[in-house]
Amino acid sequence: MRIGVIGTGKVGATLGDALGRAGHEVKLGSRHPGDSVGGPPLVDVAAALAAADVVLLAVPPGALGELLAEHAKSLAGKLIIDATNQFGGASANASVQVAAAVPTARYARVFNTLGWENFAEPIFDGEPADLFFSCRAADRPVLEELISAVGLRPAYLGEDKQDVVDGALLLWFSLVQANGGNRRIAFRVLQK
Ligand SMILES: NC(=O)c1ccc[n+]([C@@H]2O[C@H](COP(=O)([O-])OP(=O)(O)OC[C@H]3O[C@@H](n4cnc5c(N)ncnc54)[C@H](OP(=O)(O)O)[C@@H]3O)[C@@H](O)[C@H]2O)c1
Repeated sequence: MRIGVIGTGKVGATLGDALGRAGHEVKLGSRHPGDSVGGPPLVDVAAALAAADVVLLAVPPGALGELLAEHAKSLAGKLIIDATNQFGGASANASVQVAAAVPTARYARVFNTLGWENFAEPIFDGEPADLFFSCRAADRPVLEELISAVGLRPAYLGEDKQDVVDGALLLWFSLVQANGGNRRIAFRVLQK
């Protein structure tokens, strides 16, 4: 898949690197193209979006408004993966913002419920952790492929369930706080 990762910090660089190693064609969109962080090439944001079928947003939530407005045209019709977390607002996710700026985008909520350290090392006691996600049913196979490529096990919650996904985000933070700040905490769903 051709993936444009916007944001080259802890989340963007970690996921971009993992997806690239899994064989996907990844470009990291940065305000500092050319700086090397290792892994996939660092290009400007417009170039990363132009080359992508799937876009992963891994920027601070405050940067989204301008980013979406400036690049709405090249985001049209694409699968947009929202990994951003806004705290203290009406909602942690950017689904409303994305729909308003890019009405034709296919929105997916994933890669936001665990700390980035668990994206870098997704195996616990020999087994992958589960990652909750929501997206249109038609996009589920794509998301399952990308989550698996990072080494996590996909746990689908259904369409338009971004607020349910975000419940797991709050759960994760509470667990971290209750365990002395240990961020190497993740989830596993038991199923028969
Ligand atoms: N940290 C976690 O464990 C974690 C886990 C899940 C989700 N999240 C969410 O994921 C997002 C990224 O978190 P992070 O921890 O990776 O943050 P981070 O390490 O601070 O990285 C943020 C990245 O966004 C880039 N950026 C900022 N404004 C931009 C713009 N207008 N255009 C393009 N790039 C821009 C920054 O680039 P510059 O270098 O140019 O500033 C930087 O590469 C946040 O929304 C966060 O809530 C974080």
